[in-house]
Amino acid sequence: MSSIPETMRAWRIQRFGGPETLQCETVPVPRPANDEVLVRVCAASVNPVDFKTRSGKYPLIREDALPFTPGRDFSGTVAATGGAVEGWKPGQPVYGFVGQGQGAYAQYVLVKADALAQKPQTADYDVSAAVPLAALTAYQGLFEHGSMEGGDRVLIHAASGGVGHFAVQFACLRSAAVYATASGDSVEFVRSLGVDHVIDYRAQRFEDVVSDTDLVFDLVGGDTQQRSWQVLRRGGALISTLTEPSQTLAARYGVRAGRYTAHPDGATLAQIGEWIDDGGVRVIVAQQFPFEAARDALACIERGHVHGKVVIQVADY
Ligand SMILES: NC(=O)c1ccc[n+]([C@@H]2O[C@H](COP(=O)([O-])OP(=O)(O)OC[C@H]3O[C@@H](n4cnc5c(N)ncnc54)[C@H](OP(=O)(O)O)[C@@H]3O)[C@@H](O)[C@H]2O)c1
Repeated sequence: MSSIPETMRAWRIQRFGGPETLQCETVPVPRPANDEVLVRVCAASVNPVDFKTRSGKYPLIREDALPFTPGRDFSGTVAATGGAVEGWKPGQPVYGFVGQGQGAYAQYVLVKADALAQKPQTADYDVSAAVPLAALTAYQGLFEHGSMEGGDRVLIHAASGGVGHFAVQFACLRSAAVYATASGDSVEFVRSLGVDHVIDYRAQRFEDVVSDTDLVFDLVGGDTQQRSWQVLRRGGALISTLTEPSQTLAARYGVRAGRYTAHPDGATLAQIGEWIDDGGVRVIVAQQFPFEAARDALACIERGHVHGKVVIQVADY
């Protein structure tokens, strides 16, 4: 650990509230436990969970976790490994999703060894950082919880955002008939990802356009979820990242329904990296912000309607 400094710069939420509660501070560089890897962060991505955490609206991070560094996913290089870690060596280019621990709006981050994967070779560090949380959420929603199969008819809500832009591409890769919702100029963006049926949710009700779906992937919740029951075929599934669907309504419509929280998974992330390297999946970074402008990066995602992802550049590479 000789080349690793004692301290680093990190953004930390001191108390729940607005943008001003996020402060850039000098803090000790953490040391890896037995099963952990310390990563020197090159870039971190911004996800809605970051501003929900900052405002105190994310139920898994409570006051006793403060001060808390946001940033669930990152790219970087291995800096040091815990005693029981095999397969990772200092200097290797990696990317990963930290789960609920201290995050990557910092010069170094700790991650469980099995949450890491080799960075895609064709993507630079900024682009790679945009992948882990959003792409794993899309993969787990469609294939693990949604049991999506080739040829299924799928409706994906919020297709232009971080999770949605991966979900529509994964579903297209598996030859699904993909229907997607988006608004305004996001409609053309989603079409450019290969989706034939894009519904402008501000101009048209999706339930007037699509029916008999095998799977609704709900990234919006609320009224959008309520109106989604009627577009499912009996035996289909409604899977949400947000609102817990009613099991009473699921039984009435004869479908399976659930909400899930995405989890780190290095092996799946490696598979997604291969899809990126093969050219089957494009990673869209809408905007990059320097480390000092982390608050602005968060504000950009909070305003919504970003095409793809927003990334914070933490270090030169
Ligand atoms: N449970 C989990 O583990 C988990 C994991 C990841 C994300 N999430 C949650 O899932 C949601 C999506 O995440 P994300 O990263 O993709 O967010 P994002 O990048 O901010 O994208 C959200 C997009 O939703 C679209 N949208 C807004 N209202 C809509 C509506 N009524 N119908 C259809 N689309 C609508 C907007 O695009 P337009 O420009 O098209 O309007 C917006 O840009 C967030 O709430 C996030 O917190 C949960």
